[in-house]
Order: sequence, then C-alpha cells, then structure tokens
Amino acid sequence: MNVLLCGDFDEHEALEWRQALTAAVPEVNWWSPEQARQAPHAVAAAVVANPPPGQLTGLPALRLVQSLWAGVDRLLTDVTLPADVPLARMVDPAMTAAMVETAVWATLTVQREFHRYAQQQRASRWQVHPQRRADECPVLVLGQGEMGQAVAHALAALGFPVSGWSTGSGTADSTHHRPAREPGATSAVQRLSGDAALHQALPLTRVLINLLPLTPRTTGLLNAALFNALPAGAAVVNLARGRHVVDEDLLRALSNGQIGHAVLDVFAHEPLPADHPYWLHERVTLLPHVAAQTDLRSAAAVVARNLRALRDGQPLQHLVRRERGY
Ligand code: NAP
Ligand code: GLV
Repeated sequence: MNVLLCGDFDEHEALEWRQALTAAVPEVNWWSPEQARQAPHAVAAAVVANPPPGQLTGLPALRLVQSLWAGVDRLLTDVTLPADVPLARMVDPAMTAAMVETAVWATLTVQREFHRYAQQQRASRWQVHPQRRADECPVLVLGQGEMGQAVAHALAALGFPVSGWSTGSGTADSTHHRPAREPGATSAVQRLSGDAALHQALPLTRVLINLLPLTPRTTGLLNAALFNALPAGAAVVNLARGRHVVDEDLLRALSNGQIGHAVLDVFAHEPLPADHPYWLHERVTLLPHVAAQTDLRSAAAVVARNLRALRDGQPLQHLVRRERGY
C-alpha cells in the first residue's frame, strides 16, 4: 500500500515520523508529497499533520485520511479536503495520559495556589496561605470525550467533586467515539449536557477545564458571560484550543478578579506573540501547547491499526463526524 505522509512538520519531525511509521507498518510505502504527485492514482491513504491546504486533492484512489492530531479543526478548514473520504483523528492512549497529567497538575496548582508560591519564591518571600481541600474545590470539565473523561476520572479519584459536560450523544457510535466506560467507573463524575445544565453548574465551579473540540458551536464559548457565571476567583484551565476563549474577556475577568487564575496551553495565534499580555500576567500560567503531545511510537501503532483495517476491509476507528466538526 502507498501512503502519503505530509504535514506542517519540519524535516527532522518528518524523518522521525517516517521512521516510527515504518517500524509500525513496514509493509507500507511511505510517500512524500513529491512522490504522490508523480503517481497520484496509486495513493491509497494519507497520514497527515495539518498539511497545507490543497495537498490532499487529485488523489482518486484515496480511501482514508488519518490525522496525527487529535483535534481536526485546522484540517477541516481546508475546503479542498475530499468530502467523501473517511477522516480519522488521533486517539492515542499515551497522549490521553499526558493530558491527564497536565490537567491534574493545573488543577492542583490552582487549588493549592502553587502559582502564588512560585511568585513568592521569585521575590524571596516566605508567606503561608490557607490550604483548600480537594473536596471543597468542584471541577467542571467541558468535553467528555477521550481526554475529558480521563481527566474527570483522574480528578475524581483525587477527591475533587467533578462534573463533565458534553452534548450527551457521543457514545452512540463506537467507531466515532470511545465505548462507554463501565457503569462503576462513571459514578464519581456527574454527567451534564445541554446549556441549562451548564449554566446551573457554573456558579458551583471553582476550576473550569476546557477539553472541547473547536467547532462553530464551541468557538468563543469561554467568554464574559461564562466567566461572570462562575464564582468570583474561580480558575480557568484551557487545554483545548485558543479560539475557545475570547481573550479580551478573559483579560478583563483576570484584571477584576472574577477569574482568579488561568492556566493556558493553547492560543488563537501560536506561537503566542512576544508582546501578548498573557506572557507577563501575574494571574496566568502559560504553556507552549504541550499539554499532550502526540507520542510517536504509540501514535504510529494507532495509525498501523487503521491502515491494516483499511487493507483488510475492517471498520476504521476514530472517524470524525464532519457534520459535527469533531
Ligand atoms: P473527543 O473525544 O472528540 O471529545 C469531544 C467532547 O466534546 C465530547 O464529549 C463531545 O460531546 C464534547 N462536545 C463537542 N461539542 C460540544 C458542544 N457543542 N457542547 C457540549 N459538548 C460538546 O475529543 P478529545 O480527544 O477528548 O479532544 C478534545 C480536544 O482537545 C481536541 O479537539 C483538541 O482540540 C484538544 N487537544 C489539545 C491538546 C493539547 O496538547 N493542548 C492535545 C490533544 C487534544 P459528545 O461526547 O456528546 O459527542
Ligand atoms: C493537539 O493539540 C492535537 O490536537 O493533537
């Protein structure tokens, strides 16, 4: 099978991916965009990391586009993406584990105010603040997909009261989404869906974690109305996409104390411009989009499973429902 490998990665990353994918699926010929252009009729699948628009057109035998990214929002903005070819996204257990680590770290940081102690250290100041218990710090996780569910359960296991918000219809088709967890495993997390449930939960939330996909419905969801519905001083943790947040609204809520602290991993423009107010804001802890990086080996095994399913006529996994945008 000939598979096009393309994306916005640099030469070194492209080489690393090629090596990892060759080790995972040695029977595949991994083609560069140049090779694909020379024999477009012979390309059966494409494994992509946000390739430049237009790179997946003119491939008449294409039967699968496999994304190396979990979020496919950028890929879906490419109007030339063939509409009738199945699109699968990356669901990588190592990436989910990394996201859990980041979300747990961020939640503990804001619950225990470790960010304040970090600031005090820089000022050589010894000052103790009251310690808040996990069970006094309700967490709301927006998105109950691969990442959101795992994060919610990890935090519930640490004693946080956790609610998880979703559309409520995600487990209907197991080729698109993970199968529902064991009933016992979900019991510690309160499942919410719909706008009314969200607005009831917000005033009770101390830590809001965003793990939604970026779609027309979720763009700008973290805005002034949402921040004002939280209790004063609540924390916001955005680990999904920058455009979920209305930056001016968040900056205003941080300045007036409505939001006590924000942990931000993702931004509308990446890299975040050097003069952006987030960089030096004392109420912001900032990461350069590293909450959960795609793990080469584990992701290559996921790609291998889908390519072999394609070859064998078996069902493909983790397909994107394009009409929903995730
Ligand atoms: P996923 O499995 O597709 O889950 C998405 C969840 O969001 C589902 O629970 C879905 O509800 C819910 N949802 C979607 N639209 C909604 C809406 N309008 N209202 C309420 N709930 C809605 O996605 P995932 O694998 O967990 O990943 C989530 C996002 O994390 C990705 O899209 C990506 O942007 C981001 N991400 C970031 C990093 C990083 O390093 N920062 C790494 C990986 C991923 P249903 O269950 O009801 O369908
Ligand atoms: C990272 O943000 C991803 O979507 O894989």
